[in-house]
Amino acid sequence: MASSVYTKAQKRLHWAVALVLVVQVFLEVCRLGLFRQGEAGGGLDVTATLSFVLGALLLALVLLRVSIRREIGVPMPATPLAGYVHYALYFLLILSPVSGAVAWITETERSESVHDMMKFLLFAVVFLHIFQVLWGQFVAKDGTLRRMLPARD
Ligand code: HEM
Repeated sequence: MASSVYTKAQKRLHWAVALVLVVQVFLEVCRLGLFRQGEAGGGLDVTATLSFVLGALLLALVLLRVSIRREIGVPMPATPLAGYVHYALYFLLILSPVSGAVAWITETERSESVHDMMKFLLFAVVFLHIFQVLWGQFVAKDGTLRRMLPARD
């Protein structure tokens, strides 16, 4: 189903998910820093726990987003490729926190490497998505970015 614009709720959810991902990247950087220091003490667990909680929040926001999308639809993507990238984003936004929870519970090397792979793919696709949006806005000048910004009225 296609609607003509993104609703306020869809835009808020989009930026909430983006914000949670930015905080996750920040936590990841902190974790890597703590790993490098060797004797990380209790700090390591705090960032890992926060990352787990944010992962659960991310999953909840994404599932809500998917259900709204199914209910009221979304505008046609700017290009067919952008549409495939959106599907890949949803897929990885669900698989990343789920694989993180499995890694957290099982604590096996295999589950951790699956989670690392999901995170890597997610960030690669997010970069592609941002590139596409900026290209559409500033090179193709199709006004793509404005679709996800608050309406000016
Ligand atoms: C940082 C993590 C981000 C994630 C996970 C993400 C995810 C998504 C997803 C899944 C959609 C598809 C919405 C739908 O039709 O159902 C979308 C659309 C969109 N996003 Fe993002 N996004 C992110 C960051 C950004 C950023 C930084 C920008 C601005 C530079 C942006 C601008 C847009 C725009 C304009 C659309 C609508 C594109 C269109 O309709 O073709 N996003 N985003």
